[in-house]
Amino acid sequence: MAKFFNKYDNGAISLGELVKQLQSKGDKLFSDEDFIISLLSKIYNNREFLCDVLFEQLDNLTNFQSDNPYTPQAFILSSTKVYTLRAAIWSPVSRISDSKDDVYFYDKAHDHNFTFYTVGYKGPGYETDLYTYESNDLNVGDEIKLDSLGILNLKEGDIWKYEKSKDVHSQYPPKEASISINLIDNNIGLRQYYFNSKTGKVLNRVSNKYDTLKVLSDLIGNKDTNKLIEEKIKTSSNQLIKDAFDV
Ligand SMILES: [Fe+2]
Repeated sequence: MAKFFNKYDNGAISLGELVKQLQSKGDKLFSDEDFIISLLSKIYNNREFLCDVLFEQLDNLTNFQSDNPYTPQAFILSSTKVYTLRAAIWSPVSRISDSKDDVYFYDKAHDHNFTFYTVGYKGPGYETDLYTYESNDLNVGDEIKLDSLGILNLKEGDIWKYEKSKDVHSQYPPKEASISINLIDNNIGLRQYYFNSKTGKVLNRVSNKYDTLKVLSDLIGNKDTNKLIEEKIKTSSNQLIKDAFDV
């Protein structure tokens, strides 16, 4: 279940020091919550580091976020096999184009297939309608019990933890542009879902990267590609591929 922290360390650290500390724990990083909260508090206390990152990125625009697999809203700061550290930028509605639904997840109740910590870094922060569930094996169409934790506001200096495949939230745009810093546990679970937060119904799974192949094969596939897909599905142990092709 989601956790909320307000225990702040007084010191401040640079992004470089934060990365060094995160990597010093190897694959045990996410078993030391106090360590993580202390580091996130210290990076929050550094009120300049993002501006330095911005400067560096502007100075090297050709390679700007070239290895960023996330939506344009997320800005990678550091990534290893164990964790991803990113800045998430939340625009108020007036700044959002018609692509807002895909980019921001606003107003769509969803869970996450990874655990992450988030720090309200700058601005008034988004509001989120938060729920939690206990079920371990979800399928589209299931109706589950969603326990409400209320509508919360990620204010500057707040640190929250969202638990993988347990917490569901529906976000509302902040009143003004805001930034949160996320530390993601890269031990990624299988699926992410959309929910009807009123009924608890599991509406849909969130697209995975193989869904594009399904769209492409429906549009331009032929006998040969269909045969190859059939073979791949038969021999693959990757459930995400099977999900994409509804097998
Ligand atoms: Fe989310």
